[in-house]
This record gives sequence, structure tokens and C-alpha cells, in this order.
Amino acid sequence: MTGMTKLELTWIGKDRETKLESRILLEERDISYYANFRASDRDLFDNRMIFGDNLLALKALEQEFAGKIKCIYIDPPYNTGSAFEHYDDGLEHSKWLGLMRDRLTCLRNLLADDGLIFVQIDDNEMAYLTLLMDEIFHRSNRVNTIVVKMSEVSGVKMAHTDKRLPKLKEYILVYKKKENPVLTPDSIPLEKWNDEYKTVLLNWEKDDFERLDRLIQKETVTQEDVAACNELLNKSRLQSMSAYFRENGVPAADQVQWKFDNAWRIIQAVGSSSVLKLAKEQPPIDQPVAGLRSSTGILYLYNTEFDRSARQPRVQVLFAQHNLFRNPGDLWMDIKTTGGVGQEGGVLFPNGKKPEKLLQRIIGMCTREGDWVLDSFAGSGTTGAVAHKMGRRWIMIELGEHCHTHVIPRMKQVIDGTDQGGISKAVQWKGGGGYRYYRLAPSMLEKDKFGQ
Ligand SMILES: C[S@@+](CC[C@H](N)C(=O)[O-])C[C@H]1O[C@@H](n2cnc3c(N)ncnc32)[C@H](O)[C@@H]1O
Repeated sequence: MTGMTKLELTWIGKDRETKLESRILLEERDISYYANFRASDRDLFDNRMIFGDNLLALKALEQEFAGKIKCIYIDPPYNTGSAFEHYDDGLEHSKWLGLMRDRLTCLRNLLADDGLIFVQIDDNEMAYLTLLMDEIFHRSNRVNTIVVKMSEVSGVKMAHTDKRLPKLKEYILVYKKKENPVLTPDSIPLEKWNDEYKTVLLNWEKDDFERLDRLIQKETVTQEDVAACNELLNKSRLQSMSAYFRENGVPAADQVQWKFDNAWRIIQAVGSSSVLKLAKEQPPIDQPVAGLRSSTGILYLYNTEFDRSARQPRVQVLFAQHNLFRNPGDLWMDIKTTGGVGQEGGVLFPNGKKPEKLLQRIIGMCTREGDWVLDSFAGSGTTGAVAHKMGRRWIMIELGEHCHTHVIPRMKQVIDGTDQGGISKAVQWKGGGGYRYYRLAPSMLEKDKFGQ
């Protein structure tokens, strides 16, 4: 009998333990920065900007922050072998895995039980990183693997001489610590019409839809509400969209736009085909259901108290207007990576800076105002800038000198309210708050064998 062998990724030096000299974080008050005005009583001043190696800094944070961070986003060097302008990305494969293992272990300690970690990565290390994170966080805590479009199909990248397919996407691996997450991303506009919406309500005004909508949205529906719904819909008639276009001479070229503009009078009826047929033929059922009767059929409103107790047949009426937006799911194609992203925050950081919109989606879907957000590979400071504008507390760690040339100037503009790019307009950012600046205290050892 052979013993059970666990599935694991190995690499040269995996067994080697990293010995760390614990260091403390020292605030340098003259570099800490605060707005000289109060924008609201929710301004946050306790954010942390840490200059130094993130492994030592994360260890130092554990005392105060273990189990307190609600959202971690990191965008570590992808180990692509290319020499980027601001940091050396050419670490040898095993070394990269060792560095990531040590940091992810510390990050897990900092994460709240109901927190989430998001790690952005490209093809080079994605598969290895997944196995590594399965080991550290446990496979059952893997929440999602998001694919995010990071390049446009046109542009310089497409003119390359490499014969492989152009690389357009990256990944964001999402893990939880313990508790199941409730992810509530902002809905995004539908790019393409859903052809299931193919029935037009005739004799139906936008005003009628708005009145009906108010009734549908009500938490509890009274008999009066049902009667009001019925009265509204009873005056309407149903027609297939193709017949409508034919009769009204809507040119083919205008039809898509017409659908988006008239979504308040376009519906789909959801149910099995036999149920739908029945619904058209049967007289209204004498039941206290939120039933709506039009001249050509019985339409039942969805999402109501009465619906649940309704007798069959039941048909849901879905208005296209309610479906003009959709959940982005795990395939994010809609975030613009060109057209001004390079200028966001007023600092240039080629090949590394992520769009503010991307961080807004991540932070927005799993945190509330006042929660802690951490990025230990700050780069140009996108995570902190977005967290700050969204009223979240943040911690950023950056080892490179661009901590001073990029992140700090960027955060000062955010705090002063002069950064009106990125998500500022969307969140009506006016400035305020501040941050404390820290360095790692010098080594106590005479000779630092870890090179710190
Ligand atoms: C891809 S960039 C992050 C870009 C960032 N997401 C943005 O939007 O600007 C990775 C950053 O990690 C930093 N970094 C790499 N190793 C580090 C370490 N050991 N400690 C702290 N920062 C580190 C690099 O200096 C670089 O700025």
C-alpha cells in the first residue's frame, strides 16, 4: 500500500524557509499628508502609505491588521522576462514562486474571515499561481477566475512580428478566506440586444410602463395594486416585433436602435411553450395572483407575493427595459484600457498602470465605506486612489522610488480634489482625507544577510 500523496506544485527551493527579521513601521510625519479642508464628516485620514519591501511590511502590519482587511488587490510583476521601465520583472521562475508564496501567506493572515483577495496575472504564471493559491488558501476557497480584456484588438500590439495570436486578456484570481462572499458588481449596459425580447405592447405609453414599474417594484402587493396592474395592461395589445416593423415600415438599419429606445414596451413571456399557449387561450384565473390580462392573453407579473401562491399556468412577463443592464459575470470586456487610462492620476506608468474603473468594480463589489483595502504592489497607486475616492480605508506598499515620484503626487492630487480623471466624476469626488507615510525601521542586525 502506498501512502496518500497530495497534489502539489513544487519548485527549486520550495522547502527553504524564509527567515525574517521583524521590523517596525516608523511614521515620517513630514511626508504624511492631509487635506487642509474638510469635505465631509466621512473623510478618512488613517490610510497608510508604506515605502519598502512588502514582505517585511506585511509582517509588520500583522500585529495591528491581522484578520481586518476586507479586500486585497495585488498586481505583482508578471515575471514576463521583459525589463520594464520602473522595476525588474525578470525573476527566475522558482524565485518568483518563492517570493509569491511568502507574500500570499502573509496576505492571508491579514485578510478578514469574510474578505476576498484578487490577484491580477497574465498567461505566464497564471496556471502556476492558481496551484500556489490553491495550496495557501485552499482549493475550495477559490471563488472565481475573472478574465479581463486588457488590450484593444487594434493598435501597436497587433502589428507585432510574433506569429502567435495577440494577447488581449489577463486574469484576476479571486479567493476567499472563509466565509462565502456576496459579490454585487455594478451592472453594465447591454452591448447587444437580447433576441428573446420580441413582443411589442401596443396602445402602451412610457407613462404606463413607469406606473406599472412602480407597482412591480413594491415589496408587498395589495389587491388594489393587482387591480391597478390589470387595468393598465388590459388596454394594451400584443404584437410580434417583426409584424410591428413590417406594419410600421421601420427600416432594417434603424431596428436595433428602435429596440433600445422602446425597451419600455418590449417584453418576453417566460414559461414552457404549453404554458404560454394555455396563457393565451385560457380565461383569467379567478385567483388572488398578480395576474395581468391583455386582450390576447393572460400575463402574470413576476416577483410578487401573489405569484408564489399562484395556480398554474404561470407566465412571467419580463420587460426589456429591466434588462438593458447586465451583471458583468466573470468575463470583463467592457473596461476601457485606452483613451486616457495612461493619463489617469496625472502620472505616467507604462505597462503597469491599471484602469481606475477596474479597481472601482473590484472594490465596489465586495466592500463598504470605511472597510480596509490593501495593495502591497502599489505601482502608480491606482488601488489607493480608487479606494480613497470610494470612501474606503487603504494601505499601499511600494518598494520602488516611484512611491515618491508617482504614488505620493497622485494621492496628493486625489486628496486636494484636483484629480478629476479616472472615476472622480462618476463618484463626484471633491477631495478630502489624508494618509500617514511609513518606512520600515532600519535593521537591528549589524550585517543584514537578507540584503534589506
Ligand atoms: C505591475 S506594478 C503594479 C501596478 C499597479 N497596479 C498600478 O495600477 O499602477 C507592480 C509593482 O510592484 C512593485 N513591487 C515589486 N516587488 C515588490 C516588493 N517586494 N515590495 C513592494 N513592491 C514591490 C513594483 O515596484 C511595481 O511598482
